Amino acid sequence: MGKLFISEHPLIQNKIALLRCKDTSTKEFKELVGEVALLLTYEATRDLPLVEKEVETPLAVAKCHVVEEPITIVPILRAGIGMADGMQRLLPAAKVGHIGLYRDPETLMPVEYYCKLPSDIAQSRVLLVDPMLATGGTAEAAISFLKERGAKDISLLCILAAPDGVKLVQQSHPDVDIYTAAYDEKLNEEGYIVPGLGDAGDRVFGTK
Ligand code: URA
Repeated sequence: MGKLFISEHPLIQNKIALLRCKDTSTKEFKELVGEVALLLTYEATRDLPLVEKEVETPLAVAKCHVVEEPITIVPILRAGIGMADGMQRLLPAAKVGHIGLYRDPETLMPVEYYCKLPSDIAQSRVLLVDPMLATGGTAEAAISFLKERGAKDISLLCILAAPDGVKLVQQSHPDVDIYTAAYDEKLNEEGYIVPGLGDAGDRVFGTK
C-alpha cells in the first residue's frame, strides 16, 4: 500500500487556512498554491538517492553529495499548473510534462486529450500534481497513462485530499505514495471536497 503523507507543518497549515478563505484573491491564491506545492515537494523528495561528489571550495576539496536522478513534474491540466510553477523554484532542473484528461459524458470514463512527457520518463522520479484529490478518478487515470508510457516511480502531490480519492488511488496503484497538505472529511453531491476550498482551477486562474 502506498504511503499517505498528511503534512502537519504549521507553515503549511497556515497557508491552507488562507487558501480555504473565500475572500483570498486570485493572485494570493496562486502564490499560496505554489508555496504549499514547494513545501510538499521537500517532503516527497526526502528519499532521493545521493551521489558522492568532490567539490573544490576556495580552501580545500570537500566530499559532497548531489542529486543526479532525473525528476519530472507532471501537472494534470489545468489546475496542476499552479502547483508546478511553485515546485520549479525548488527543482529548477526538473523537466515538466503535461497531461490533460476529461470525463466522457456518456461512458464517464477518463479520456486523455493531451500528453507531452520527457523522453526519459521511465528513468525519472515523477511528481504528478493535481491540487484536489476528490473522487480520485482523474488521478487514477493519469497514473495509468503515465505507467503506460513507462513511468515507474510516481508520487502524487495534492493540496487537499478526500477519503474517496485516497482510497481509489491506493487500491488501484499501491506503488504510488500520496502527499497532501490536508485531508478533508468528504465530498458533496457534485464531487467537491468539503469543507475544501472551492474549484481550484477557477481560483488559480480567476475564471469565476
Ligand atoms: N476539484 C476542485 O477544484 N475542487 C474540488 O473540491 C473537487 C475537485
